[in-house]
Amino acid sequence: MAPIKVPLADVGAEAPELSPAGAVVLQPAGVAHNLPVQLTSFVGREAEMAQVCALLTENRLLTLTGAGGVGKTRLALEVAATVLPKFPAGAWLADMAPLTGPALVPVAVARALGLPDQQGVATMAIVTSFIGPRLALLVLDNCEHLLDACAALAEDLLRACPGLTILATSREPLGAAGEAVWRVPSLALAGEAVELFADRAARARPGFAMTPVNAAAVENLPDLAAALRSQLGLRLESRRASVEMLVIDHVEKMPTEN
Ligand SMILES: Nc1ncnc2c1ncn2[C@@H]1O[C@H](COP(=O)(O)OP(=O)(O)O)[C@@H](O)[C@H]1O
Ligand SMILES: [Mg+2]
Repeated sequence: MAPIKVPLADVGAEAPELSPAGAVVLQPAGVAHNLPVQLTSFVGREAEMAQVCALLTENRLLTLTGAGGVGKTRLALEVAATVLPKFPAGAWLADMAPLTGPALVPVAVARALGLPDQQGVATMAIVTSFIGPRLALLVLDNCEHLLDACAALAEDLLRACPGLTILATSREPLGAAGEAVWRVPSLALAGEAVELFADRAARARPGFAMTPVNAAAVENLPDLAAALRSQLGLRLESRRASVEMLVIDHVEKMPTEN
């Protein structure tokens, strides 16, 4: 396929409330995307990754649901990065979280794709003619407060663009025709929370290494275990910060062996 020419994002004047579209990056594989680079490591979720990737090959609209903080966005981004090679036309993340009204949903998608307004052309028409019949992935993130608008957009785009797949995240299903819904489970404490502890502890204390002894210690500290369990269902930045403090506190007390 010929390289895709991606227009530069034209953010600003008309929609100041939208966050600027991420830079469209052409990867070595030649796939255009605006998926953000993650600064922390992704913990566990091997089985979930496999299931969601498989579901995405069978469903053109898949919504990851679950409570705030359970890990929907992070899982969606990991899945998108994994399936990227299957979408040679590109993969784009459009975050609905900052949008203040339903009319902004198509605008946010156009901005994510890097498409500027065209006078006299409806935003949806700009988006559908850009995607056309090509194989592309659109991640609609944090849809919960704009369910109807996201459902309508998804239905319209999927009808107009036969090669498009949409992965949405939302506390509740969008309620769109043909939507597959997959509930994101909390991470299990025993394996994945300990792994999360190890990751965060190593960042807090360079050189910290997880051993079977301190893994057992994590599970035997009820306050830490409970905090980690809630970190995996984290809702608030402040809560997260307090868990990180607790991790740091406990790292000091971890048994040292080896
Ligand atoms: N599997 C994971 N490994 C590492 N960090 C994770 C994982 N899942 C979630 N997080 C982190 O937990 C926080 C909340 O996750 P997020 O995906 O934003 O939740 P949601 O979208 O369900 O509200 C984020 O900082 C995210 O990076
Ligand atoms: Mg989210």
